[in-house]
Amino acid sequence: MKRFANKVVWITGASSGIGAALAEAFAAEGAKLVLSARRRDELEQVVAKSGGEGHLVLPLDLAQPDTFPSLVEAVHQRFGRVDVLVHNGGISQRALVKDTRLDVDRRIMEVNYFGAVALTKAVLPSMLAAKAGHFVVVSSVMGKIGTPQRSAYAASKHALHGFFDCLRAEISADGLFVTLICPGFIRTEVSRNALTGDGSPMNKAEGDITGGHPAELTARQILDAAHARKSEVYVGALGKERLALLLKRFLPSTLENMVRKAVPK
Ligand SMILES: NC(=O)c1ccc[n+]([C@@H]2O[C@H](COP(=O)([O-])OP(=O)(O)OC[C@H]3O[C@@H](n4cnc5c(N)ncnc54)[C@H](OP(=O)(O)O)[C@@H]3O)[C@@H](O)[C@H]2O)c1
Repeated sequence: MKRFANKVVWITGASSGIGAALAEAFAAEGAKLVLSARRRDELEQVVAKSGGEGHLVLPLDLAQPDTFPSLVEAVHQRFGRVDVLVHNGGISQRALVKDTRLDVDRRIMEVNYFGAVALTKAVLPSMLAAKAGHFVVVSSVMGKIGTPQRSAYAASKHALHGFFDCLRAEISADGLFVTLICPGFIRTEVSRNALTGDGSPMNKAEGDITGGHPAELTARQILDAAHARKSEVYVGALGKERLALLLKRFLPSTLENMVRKAVPK
């Protein structure tokens, strides 16, 4: 029996990286997909690779929440419901606080945090009415710790934990679930797309990311966590990321000393 047979799974950030891998993984488990991101052509390619029939490509910009109600309506017209909403779309950052323009901080919060909040609010009433639904939220190890050049990114991911921990408490009696996913380094386009201080993409590969865990294996870990309805999981190969998480919890001043050394000279 396929684990997501006939489930309607809406994935944001499905045009690349973890989101594209999630589309293939959920399709292989029998899901009907709704795939969203800004680039329609890439989404069409992901649908073609995912196999299965009847998937819906629904381009969306997470920084344009006014469009969300009509997009939710389009999903309901096609499938009648959303069973799983995977908040995966996001952008990272590579710039010190002193070099980051305030509009760049705001943009990262708009896409990573308010995009997920607004889409959740657009979908939530129908999930509550159905007494069924699951939010899977792709945060980051940066949702738990802070390191140089990631201030807005880490803030946006920390904020997701606050919002979705509260939401989980509010909706669990209605039969709804929240799973927070904290990936370590995953091999995707994330560092190329990361914003620099003036808002332009960094456009460079980074060793930690190119040597990171494959997106396909990460997607399987996420799917397992969603199926088990876990509250929060860490995914990836998790070498030095796991050490950082342990230090944050048990020896926070040691972690502070270590991350201080990561400030570029
Ligand atoms: N890779 C890692 O090491 C890592 C680690 C921890 C957490 N994560 C998280 O994993 C998620 C996926 O990232 P990735 O690693 O797969 O990177 P990626 O390859 O750069 O993919 C990012 C996805 O987000 C979409 N996106 C970006 N801005 C958007 C916007 N304004 N509206 C709609 N969609 C937007 C992109 O699509 P379009 O450009 O087509 O819009 C793309 O599909 C992100 O939330 C990221 O923070 C990644």
